[in-house]
Amino acid sequence: MSAIHLQYLLLLVSFLHHASSNSVPIFNAIYSFGASYEDTGNVAILSQASNQLKLPYGETFFRRPTGRASDGRLVIDRIATYVGLPFIPPSLAHGQDFRKGANFAVSGATALNLAFFQQNNIANQNVQNTSLSVQLEWFENQKPSICNTTCMQFFAKSLFMLGKFGDNDYFYMSLGGKTINFVNSTIPLVVKTIRSAAKRLLRQGVMHLVVTGIRPNGCVPVYLTLFASTNRSDYDSLGCLKVYNKIGIYHNALLCSAVKQLRLEFPHAKISFSEYYEPIIDFVRNPNKYGFTSGTQLRACCGGGGPYNVNLTAGCGQTGVPACPNPSTSISWDGLHLTDAAYNIIADGWWKGPYANPPILAL
Ligand SMILES: *[C@@H]1O[C@H](CO)[C@@H](O)[C@H](O)[C@H]1NC(C)=O
Ligand SMILES: *[C@@H]1O[C@H](CO)[C@@H](O)[C@H](O)[C@H]1NC(C)=O
Ligand SMILES: *[C@@H]1O[C@H](CO)[C@@H](O)[C@H](O)[C@H]1NC(C)=O
Ligand SMILES: *[C@@H]1O[C@H](CO)[C@@H](O)[C@H](O)[C@H]1NC(C)=O
Ligand SMILES: *[C@@H]1O[C@H](CO)[C@@H](O)[C@H](O)[C@H]1NC(C)=O
Repeated sequence: MSAIHLQYLLLLVSFLHHASSNSVPIFNAIYSFGASYEDTGNVAILSQASNQLKLPYGETFFRRPTGRASDGRLVIDRIATYVGLPFIPPSLAHGQDFRKGANFAVSGATALNLAFFQQNNIANQNVQNTSLSVQLEWFENQKPSICNTTCMQFFAKSLFMLGKFGDNDYFYMSLGGKTINFVNSTIPLVVKTIRSAAKRLLRQGVMHLVVTGIRPNGCVPVYLTLFASTNRSDYDSLGCLKVYNKIGIYHNALLCSAVKQLRLEFPHAKISFSEYYEPIIDFVRNPNKYGFTSGTQLRACCGGGGPYNVNLTAGCGQTGVPACPNPSTSISWDGLHLTDAAYNIIADGWWKGPYANPPILAL
């Protein structure tokens, strides 16, 4: 048996043992930062107007809108369950106990601060003051109520998840009319910002950290609609827009190097790099293998029509905009975010591999 197989078997055994013993959680708490792929309800507390607060959002799992941008659970929800913890409450919720975790993620959040967007004249109503450093500030302000004087010891036993930052930064730049070269030129700064945030956490005693890469935006229905091209050679063989995927590849390569650097600087911490890019590309390439309907892989399940089922004047959550009858056969829920089914496969791949390196279970 190869070493890889043996390692996998050992992971599986420890996983099954844990699942059956149903005892103490693997980590005492989960603290999460991010944007809409991670937000478990902060957007609902900050802005009652969001479409995400209306059905059919939440129709599959919670059976009501919770502020999550999906028909059901996000990756963080599944990870919390695997760890043996309750769902992680949004950090802005009042009267919550955050000693088993807090989720600082907010839909629309950027890695770069609001000032960057203002200085470059690309601030729009979606660019809020909820960037990564703002979320870290919220976290640091909340520390006394979580662990008070024993935070180093407490955090050493917690799982920290630095979610998918960067996609919103690049999206707002493109929406603001910036060229792809401009967007590309900001990638080192965005990655440096994420790396600094990781260091800020690691210096506070964090020992188990997951850092997440961005998605293949060229295969995202909203991108395919907004940035459609009449030139066939702008599309790859899967029907995705090449340049937006290149942005993802470059960002993820730099972020992966940054993670390797962090492992050298913090040798006692365990740092995982987790992926959306690889799984989503694989879903698009081999939909049937994952239970998705072939031919729908670039279409939103919930939307107001058009070739990608994305209609900018009739978005999911607005009156009269339908969802597909069986969301579990779609990758994309609303044109930007994934279905409960897609998030489920990704969560499994972060937990046991192959979509996180090392898998969270091995941390
Ligand atoms: C954003 O919020 C932070 C604190 O949460 C504050 O220090 C900062 O001034 C705010 N920035 C802007 C541009 O409003
Ligand atoms: C934090 O610890 C200090 C000193 O031990 C104590 O006085 C204070 O009440 C504690 N605060 C909380 C929120 O537990
Ligand atoms: C982005 O910049 C990198 C580094 O200069 C380069 O290798 C890559 O081709 C660029 N990507 C795009 C889409 O321009
Ligand atoms: C289409 O794109 C290719 C590659 O980007 C470029 O070489 C070609 O000139 C473009 N064609 C038109 C008609 O713009
Ligand atoms: C988009 O939605 C608007 C408003 O509901 C509707 O009038 C229009 O026909 C839709 N466009 C497509 C392509 O379905």
